[in-house]
Amino acid sequence: MENIVLIGYMGCGKSSTASALSKKSGLSVLDTDAAIAAHMGMSITDIFERYGEERFRSEETELLKRLVREGFRGILSAGGGTPLREENRGLLRQLGTVVWLTAEPATIADRLKYDSSRPLLAGASGREERISRIRNMLDQREAAYAAAAMRRIATDGLDVNAVAEQILGSFSA
Ligand code: S3P
Repeated sequence: MENIVLIGYMGCGKSSTASALSKKSGLSVLDTDAAIAAHMGMSITDIFERYGEERFRSEETELLKRLVREGFRGILSAGGGTPLREENRGLLRQLGTVVWLTAEPATIADRLKYDSSRPLLAGASGREERISRIRNMLDQREAAYAAAAMRRIATDGLDVNAVAEQILGSFSA
């Protein structure tokens, strides 16, 4: 089984799909956010607050380079903003088949309703404001995701097992 790299906006189900894929395929999962938080010994929110987004983005790039160097094997669940840097898009494609998970802004807003761990969505008050902030960010990011992706799956209305089956099915097709 080849490596699978999951990309997409926050709340599109990358982490939960990665663990469903892991159960079905036996491959292990590496989550870039978790790896960076462990490496720096602090939460993603604290990294953004203390060092800023650019520093976090550089940590993402360093991590991807290291994984390429070390010949990573498994499923990679990338942070929602990882494909924004062109360099990262190349690294992600070197690491495996890049699958882009998408969802409608309203679906994402509802999935992240009680989540306070995403610094880029902090401070949005109310559902409508959250949806419009998500829509703006998706518009800005669409081209970067599309440039990194080799496959694309719309997750609205699908549970993680169905998403994982679609991904695995696309390999055997
Ligand atoms: C981010 C997404 C987050 C995390 C950080 C920034 C983004 O990852 O890397 O909060 O820019 O979209 P998830 O997509 O896993 O939430």
